Amino acid sequence: MPPDEGRALHGAALAAARETGLPLLEIGSYCGRSTLLLADAARAAGTVAVTVDHHRGSEEQQPGEEYHDPATADPAAPGRMDTLPLFRRTLAEAGVEEYVVAVVGGSGRAARALGGGGGGRFGLVFIDGGHSEAQAAEDYESWVPQLAVGGLLVIHDVFPDPADGGRAPFRIWRRAVETGAFAEVSEHRSLRVLRRTVPDRV
Ligand SMILES: C[S@@+](CC[C@H](N)C(=O)[O-])C[C@H]1O[C@@H](n2cnc3c(N)ncnc32)[C@H](O)[C@@H]1O
Repeated sequence: MPPDEGRALHGAALAAARETGLPLLEIGSYCGRSTLLLADAARAAGTVAVTVDHHRGSEEQQPGEEYHDPATADPAAPGRMDTLPLFRRTLAEAGVEEYVVAVVGGSGRAARALGGGGGGRFGLVFIDGGHSEAQAAEDYESWVPQLAVGGLLVIHDVFPDPADGGRAPFRIWRRAVETGAFAEVSEHRSLRVLRRTVPDRV
């Protein structure tokens, strides 16, 4: 995530945490970079950031793919990734472990196990997980119902032009807009921020 998108995410997280006082949710922890931004916002508002990832990487991050980083190789399982140790180190070095609750597992399974749809328990939902159509839809359907009224939905890698990147995040962003339950707040490159104005509509 480029620095200006990071600043936009941090600003949204800070506003959401302060205005709602509720925990912030992230799908896609990876090595903890964006989690640091949510953790800082959570610390400022006296809440926590909950972040979900199976830590095995997205399709485009696998060995041989465009976004693979050899530092993420799992030493115990050749050919697999494991970003959990890097994620933990990132949080520890920044001194923000107490502001983060890390959930290690698949996004949909985690949402079902942790209570499923409804409830408005999060002040912010930040979607930056898998980019397949099925995965983006599952992230949306699993977690957006848990966003409180007044809370912010932030989606990364929203590319209206297919020449710029995959369309799955764009489709869930458009789906949210078309529900009529969200107001558009801001956009910074591929980062889109929406505010929930109506409960229970996804
Ligand atoms: C683009 S990275 C996240 C980057 C991170 N937000 C940042 O800015 O530093 C996407 C992450 O989503 C995770 N992911 C992909 N599909 C997932 C799924 N079904 N459940 C949980 N995590 C998933 C991958 O393991 C990967 O770490």
